[in-house]
Amino acid sequence: MTAVGIDALEIWTGKLKLDLPGTFAPQKGEDPEKYTKGLGLNASSFPDAHEDIVTMGANAAKRLMERKGLAPDDIGRIDVATESAFDNSKPVSTYIAGCLEQVYDGDFHHANKGERKFACIAGTQSLDDAYNWIKAGRNRDRAALVIATDTALYARGDPGEATQGAGAVAMLVDEDPDLVELSTEQGYGSADETDFLKPNQQFPSVDGKRSMQVYLARMREAVEDFESISDPTHPEDFAYIPFHTPFPGMVRKAGLLGYRHMIRNTPIEESLAEEIGLQPREDDYADREAYEEAIREHMDELKSTDEYREWYGEVIEPTLAISREVGNWYTGSVHIARAAALKSAAESGRDLAGERLLVGSYGSGAQAEIHAETVADDWAEEIDELNVDEQIDERYDLSFAEYEKVHDRHNHDKTIDIEDFTVPEEEFVFTGWGRMNERTYEYVE
Ligand code: HMG
Repeated sequence: MTAVGIDALEIWTGKLKLDLPGTFAPQKGEDPEKYTKGLGLNASSFPDAHEDIVTMGANAAKRLMERKGLAPDDIGRIDVATESAFDNSKPVSTYIAGCLEQVYDGDFHHANKGERKFACIAGTQSLDDAYNWIKAGRNRDRAALVIATDTALYARGDPGEATQGAGAVAMLVDEDPDLVELSTEQGYGSADETDFLKPNQQFPSVDGKRSMQVYLARMREAVEDFESISDPTHPEDFAYIPFHTPFPGMVRKAGLLGYRHMIRNTPIEESLAEEIGLQPREDDYADREAYEEAIREHMDELKSTDEYREWYGEVIEPTLAISREVGNWYTGSVHIARAAALKSAAESGRDLAGERLLVGSYGSGAQAEIHAETVADDWAEEIDELNVDEQIDERYDLSFAEYEKVHDRHNHDKTIDIEDFTVPEEEFVFTGWGRMNERTYEYVE
């Protein structure tokens, strides 16, 4: 069977930075450690005045096409995943194709384009669409371009304001991929939830605390569904487990829950029993409340064990390195978690070829998806090409007053003109609105 998966990826971060412990926390009268230790975030990325979901997506895609030596004819499909769209009819992929056609000979007139929506999980669903299209033999030897692009802004004063971010991930999905092969097996956990939504409004209505519970509940269902069609998951099976990362503190909770699930009825549970006892079993408790209390106490002890800490440090912690510096990128978030993990392996000279990842995607509203990936032979060469660290370092560091202006600039209900903070160079920029209120773009040399 032909292997299908991600051949290469590129990342484009918004070019502005808000320092959370240094700039944001003092303004909010909060302890900086709430951000660095509690949420696990150092900074958020923001789009400059000339940036938006189209420019970030097109810039990531152009970099990817250049690096892989691709022409428009090599691409048979462009799918954009976003929850920051500004049009209910014309998809962002048409704008991005239009941008790319400004700089390439040829065009994308015979490429299938669309836009996927299901909160943050849409990025992974777009990968599915590309995978299925190739597996069905409809691709005519062409690859698919999948772009996850978002400006994750919350209303000012909303608790979510601390977890904002902006950036794009472009992924090339193809046969015999150089980076990772996707498993056919998938597990889903999906339910009609109202934890985070944007009913025709730019900034989300969020029940933050509940959204965290819904994330964990759907993720657990997805793991169980995945295991029903593959082997039971075990902590030693996966080199890394990249999760959707709205902020690293959320993944801390998901990692602990996942570990507890994976070690149940294994020799690891037995060996830990001497130190912290076996995991509570519901049948041993008079009611659900007593059982849940026992579980909470057990988890508190589990997270302090050397076994868990070592596993977390190796398998989960490396997935958080980019997210800590850029915040939530919604649809791109789980894909920067995968990139961060592979980057960490490449930097430490680890050979990952043939090893497996377990990928946990999530979108509010709500759905989780679990699938496995097998790392391909040429993964290290692909990952070495990323320049995300340089991009992160080069961001303009906003003062709080500047942050407020940038937030207003990207608020669809306001018309605020501000000067750019950075000078655009070799990139697509937003230039204004055309006669039918469409957004316009050009490439700046
Ligand atoms: P909050 O209420 O301001 O924060 O908002 P908190 O008081 O809960 O503190 C956060 C953590 O910091 C806690 O850690 C505190 O203990 C700790 P925890 O107990 O949970 O482990 N803390 C400190 N630690 C050290 N020193 C200190 C200190 N102070 C506090 N001094 C909340 C948090 C997540 C609710 C908020 O940011 C929010 O509403 N965010 C948006 C919603 C969200 O991100 N939800 C995540 C799950 S849903 C999801 O992932 C989907 C999403 O990406 C959207 C989509 O799918 O489209 C959001």
